[in-house]
Amino acid sequence: MKQDFLDYIQDTFNFTPEEMQDFESALSKPLKKTLRVNTNKISVEDFKELAIKNNWLLTETPLWNNMFYIDREDTSLALGHTLEHISWLIYMQELAASSSPFYMSEDIVDDSEYTILDMSASPGWKTTQLAEYYPNSLIIANEIDKSRMRQLHENTDRLWARNVYVTNFDGRHFKNYPEVFDKILLDAPCSGEWTAYKTDDALKYWNLKNIKRIAKLQFQLLESAFIALKVWGELVYSTCTLNRLENEDIINKLTDKYWDYFRIISLSEDTSKPLIRAWPHKNNTGWFFVIKLIKKQPVEDIKIKTGFQKNTQWFEKLSNTAEKTVHNFLETTFWLTLPGKFYTYRNEVYYGEKNIDYFWENFFFYKMGIKIGKLEDGVFEPNFYLGTHFDIFEANTIPVNQEAIQTLYSGWEIEMDSQWSDGYYQVYYDDIPAGCVKIKSWVMKSLIESRFMRK
Ligand SMILES: C[S@@+](CC[C@H](N)C(=O)[O-])C[C@H]1O[C@@H](n2cnc3c(N)ncnc32)[C@H](O)[C@@H]1O
Repeated sequence: MKQDFLDYIQDTFNFTPEEMQDFESALSKPLKKTLRVNTNKISVEDFKELAIKNNWLLTETPLWNNMFYIDREDTSLALGHTLEHISWLIYMQELAASSSPFYMSEDIVDDSEYTILDMSASPGWKTTQLAEYYPNSLIIANEIDKSRMRQLHENTDRLWARNVYVTNFDGRHFKNYPEVFDKILLDAPCSGEWTAYKTDDALKYWNLKNIKRIAKLQFQLLESAFIALKVWGELVYSTCTLNRLENEDIINKLTDKYWDYFRIISLSEDTSKPLIRAWPHKNNTGWFFVIKLIKKQPVEDIKIKTGFQKNTQWFEKLSNTAEKTVHNFLETTFWLTLPGKFYTYRNEVYYGEKNIDYFWENFFFYKMGIKIGKLEDGVFEPNFYLGTHFDIFEANTIPVNQEAIQTLYSGWEIEMDSQWSDGYYQVYYDDIPAGCVKIKSWVMKSLIESRFMRK
């Protein structure tokens, strides 16, 4: 472990030698595994029953209702390969890494229709949490790094975040849209101190010069977010670091510049300590820092630069004829009516449920809602995930066993008996919708895309 880092922690937080020892030894222990229940798909109560059936021992975490420590006696099947995980009823997420959406929402599902920005979103764990807490809101998930887009794309699809629209800007660009968002999460890019859990080598490049460089970007992102926030809107700033330069100092800088424009909302009962800083040796989690503020007045005299060219939009709204084709397919095959809007990119069809007219005129989108299938030569074919998210459809459904679902997630085929005619079906297991398939000549084919296949 890099000594400079330890010295910094000891000096800055006035740790006694004993506490310092606790801190260091907490770092060498692996973090306890936590899972998050995807409440978009299953309630916590129903999941607890499933866990009992599976002989999984769940223990409540100190922080949130839908996150649990998990112990299993039989670990012959990796948790990531269990039906519960591959059908995204649950997913593994570190407790600390899940904290900011909890503080934003106070762990309450809010049905209001907000406009929310997740300014630095990939791989999208917190985006999908926001989609659960704010199911009726429009969520813009932004990420600058194209190489991290795929994960954001996949995670929002898997978790059926149909109110999430993805953009690919430098977060500093959002200041050109003053007072547009009701809530903003800035889970800022940071110096990566937290990787100290993973390897002793992690802090090799830890030095104050690097941290000051990243802190400069963090402040610019925070200022941009602050300008883009509506008056009385709320902004949550979080990092996975402990040092003050990336945390309190960033907020102090905002206070120096925008004194009287905002106030901090206390996240703890002790209002003299409004921010939350979690420590590995005190909180049994990874570390994180989170602070929440509310804007009181507009920022004036902003120089606006949009530079957006409409003709660069990749997506198109589906034409009336194509939209009719998709609706007809869904209604006649599954008796499913989708009330939202359809978009297309190449031959892919996307479905989103929010009105995005303002953003359509101003933003370049990387993804619109979730991908539901493809349209080729006027014929629509659903993808696998369309069949995982709603309740069990009213028509064309087939009950299958666990083994069949594992097979379908691997992209393999299943031989059927003659009672099943050719066509598209939704498969389900134990009342859990599990995917869309195609039957042709008594063979069931999975419609899962290769990028989602279980290897
Ligand atoms: C801490 S990670 C976000 C983790 C994510 N919120 C989650 O929960 O899955 C920070 C992200 O910020 C992105 N980033 C870095 N510089 C950025 C910038 N100038 N604007 C927007 N995003 C940026 C990084 O590529 C990285 O994906």
